[in-house]
Amino acid sequence: MLHLQSSKHETENKTGHCTKVVRSANMENLRSGYLFPEISLREYEHSQKYPNAKIIKLGIGDTTEPIPDCITSAMAKQATALSTVEGYSGYGDEQGSKALRKRIAEMLYGNMGIKGEEVFVSDGAQCDISRLQMLLGPNVTVAVQDPSFPAYIDSSVIFGRAGDLQGQNGKYERIVYMKCTPDNDFFPDLSITPRTDIIFFCSPNNPTGTAASAAQLRRLVDFATANGSIIVFDSSYAAYISDGSPTSIYQIPGAKQVAIEISSFSKFAGFTGVRLGWTVVPEELSYSNGFPIIKDYDRIVCTCFNGASNIVQAGGLACLSAEGLQAISRVVKSYQENAKILTEAFRGLGMEVYGGQNAPYLWVHFPGSSSWEIFAEIMEKTHIVTIPGRGFGPGGEAYIRVSSFGHRETILEASQRLTNLRTLNIN
Ligand code: MLT
Repeated sequence: MLHLQSSKHETENKTGHCTKVVRSANMENLRSGYLFPEISLREYEHSQKYPNAKIIKLGIGDTTEPIPDCITSAMAKQATALSTVEGYSGYGDEQGSKALRKRIAEMLYGNMGIKGEEVFVSDGAQCDISRLQMLLGPNVTVAVQDPSFPAYIDSSVIFGRAGDLQGQNGKYERIVYMKCTPDNDFFPDLSITPRTDIIFFCSPNNPTGTAASAAQLRRLVDFATANGSIIVFDSSYAAYISDGSPTSIYQIPGAKQVAIEISSFSKFAGFTGVRLGWTVVPEELSYSNGFPIIKDYDRIVCTCFNGASNIVQAGGLACLSAEGLQAISRVVKSYQENAKILTEAFRGLGMEVYGGQNAPYLWVHFPGSSSWEIFAEIMEKTHIVTIPGRGFGPGGEAYIRVSSFGHRETILEASQRLTNLRTLNIN
């Protein structure tokens, strides 16, 4: 996870030879390194500074608990079968195995009328964000929640849709930032939101941990319908919803005509390393000329992807069996309990804490502070890594995101260290 980003002005070349290829202006337009490798780098530097410190990683949202045996044994069985003449298989369908597509449609979209043929199995939601960007024309306009998962903006910059970065407010001029704060219940004021072609919308939201209600999503779908926009709905954290909020945009009538949904097994089943996700493109969704978008997405997938690993897809099927779902829900529950423990620890410090109830992330407010400074101070004083909210957009200033992925004893240790902060007067 450790990468070094060369800055815009870094032209030094170590070999003395340069090609004649010009660096993409879009790559030059990226604000900095991608957030998560930057956090890994800070963590690494901290470990160098304090070689004996036991660092607790509550930064990058990486799952920690073992994958239930009923799922790994299905993958092992599939792997072993590849060593037999009968069990060997090569390329599969680029869109994913029919069995898994059908199982996703039935188990996760059962009463929403989504068909297996509308589900495209992939190697993860993040890769699908870029494939969707590839699908869309060069001039489409984009709106994002502010704060939001950085891949929506960064991939928009890479595809040249973002315009210039404005120094004074840290925003790209062609991106519409839909402010989401406690004041608007973390749901954008659509009455002042300009029309865009694409609206990236993540619920439960990464980083704020808040899930949009059915009434809010109804407003979003109506907004997209009235404007002829497409919602790219990211439901990667749906398994963490505990208050009955919608787990899919397709629970809202009419959404199939205006929304694509991306999702993932990563946080749902601990597949961050295994890699498996999916995208739903409904047949009803079309371009302005009436052409079905699903046909173009199919074309993109066939051109750019050879399908998810057959071993991993066997794991996906096992996740969606009755036994798999039960086992997964126990793991999710333990992360949800972690979130409660951490929430209490921060509240004990007098901080306002959002999220946690419907997502594995806490969004902790430090009014008037710089989020990078808070991040650095917490790491310095407790050896706990978090993520500065500013990394998720200008709207994340004065917040930090805290992940609840971790073994229970680590979370309890983190909670203890945070409680001890009281005497250090961090707040
Ligand atoms: C996160 O929000 O921490 C991400 O899921 C990590 C990632 O995408 O690399």
